[in-house]
Amino acid sequence: MKILVTGGCGFIGSNFIRYFLDSYPNDLIINVDKLTYAGNLENLADLSPSRRYHFIRADIAEAPPMEAILREGVDAVVNFAAESHVDRSIEDPSAFMKTNVFGTFVLLEAVRKVFPKRQIRFVHISTDEVYGSLGETGAFTEETSLAPNSPYSASKTAADMMVRAYHQTYGLPTFITRCSNNFGPYQFPEKLIPLLISNAIEDKELPIYGDGMHVRDWIYVEDHCRALDTVLHHGKEGEVYNVGGRSEMPNLIVAKAILERLGKPHSLLRFVKDRLGHDRRYAMDFSKIERELGWRPSVSFEEGISRTIEWYQAHQEWWRKIKTGEYLKYYERMYGNR
Ligand code: NAD
Ligand code: TYD
Repeated sequence: MKILVTGGCGFIGSNFIRYFLDSYPNDLIINVDKLTYAGNLENLADLSPSRRYHFIRADIAEAPPMEAILREGVDAVVNFAAESHVDRSIEDPSAFMKTNVFGTFVLLEAVRKVFPKRQIRFVHISTDEVYGSLGETGAFTEETSLAPNSPYSASKTAADMMVRAYHQTYGLPTFITRCSNNFGPYQFPEKLIPLLISNAIEDKELPIYGDGMHVRDWIYVEDHCRALDTVLHHGKEGEVYNVGGRSEMPNLIVAKAILERLGKPHSLLRFVKDRLGHDRRYAMDFSKIERELGWRPSVSFEEGISRTIEWYQAHQEWWRKIKTGEYLKYYERMYGNR
C-alpha cells in the first residue's frame, strides 16, 4: 500500500508514520506538511529518505501541488494536517478556517479529480470536540449531534461535514475518526501534558485554567495510531468511528500525577484565568469501533504518562529548542497577565 499522510511532521502524524512503517515493511508513505510552527522535521529525524518514505513540503490548501502528488498514485490519504490548538484558535481563528476547512476541501476536491473511479480511501482525523461539552454524566456516541464551541472545533466540524458530503454526493470512500485527547512523545509543549511536564522539569509554574475540574478523556498516542490503522484497513466506507482511552480525568488530577512522578511540589500549581468558552467535560463511547472492528485501547493512563514523562526527560534537547523565540512570545501572550 502507498499512502499520502498530511501533517506528518506534527505530533500524531509523526507517531503514525513511524508506527505504520514499522508495521508494514512493504508499504510506502509520502508525507506532505507545510511545516507551520507545529511541524518539526526533527520528529522524524530517525527516518532517512528512502524508497519507503518521502517528505514534501506543501500546503494542503493549495490545489496544484496536491493534485500533482496524487497523480503519482496513492492507495489512501490519511489527513492529519490541521491547526490543532484551541487557545490559538481563540486568539486568531483565521488559519483554522484556511487549513482545517478550506484545506480539507482542497484535498477532497483534488482526490475527486484525480481518482474519478474512487479507487482510494480517504481517512480524515477528527476530534471529540466536534460534539461540544457534556454535563456530569453520559458520553459522546457517533450519533450525538455536533455542537462545537471553539473556533478550532467549529473548523473541524465544518471539515467533517465536507468529508461526509463527498461521500454522500460523489461516492468517495471516506472514513472519519473522532478521537479524544492524545498524549505521548513529540507533542508540542503548548498542549496540557507536555506543557506541564516540561514546566515541571524546569521548576516553572504549571498553569491550570479555572478550577482545574474540566474533564478530558486521555489516550496514549500509540493506541490512536493503531485505531487509525484499523480504520484504514477495515473501516466501512462513509462511517464515523469514535476513539477513546477510557481514562477520564480532571486536569488537576493530571497535573498532580505529573508532579508526583517527577518528585516536584504541589506549590508549582498556579490557577489562572479560565479559557473562553471552555468545554467542561468530554467522554467517549467508542463501543462501535470495539464491536465492529475489534479495536480497544491497550495502554493505561498510568503506563502512558510514565512513558511520556520518561520521554520528555530523555529528550530535553527536543523541547528546549522549541521553547525559545516565537514560543516564548506565545507563552508571554497566553500566560503573562493571566
Ligand atoms: P499538530 O499541531 O501537532 O500537527 C499538525 C501538523 O499539520 C503540523 O506538522 C503542521 O505543520 C501541519 N500543517 C498545518 N497546516 C498545514 C497545511 N495547511 N498544510 C500541510 N500541513 C499543515 O497536531 P496533532 O496534535 O498531531 O493533530 C493531528 C490531527 O489530529 C489534527 O487534525 C487534529 O485536529 C486531530 N486530533 C488531535 C488530537 C490531539 O489530542 N492532539 C485529538 C483528536 C484529533
Ligand atoms: P489542551 O491540551 O489545550 O487540549 P484541548 O483543549 O483540545 O482539550 O487542554 C486540555 C485541558 O487542559 C483543557 O481542559 C484546557 C486545560 N489546560 C490548562 O488547564 N492549562 C494549560 O496551560 C493548557 C494548555 C490547557
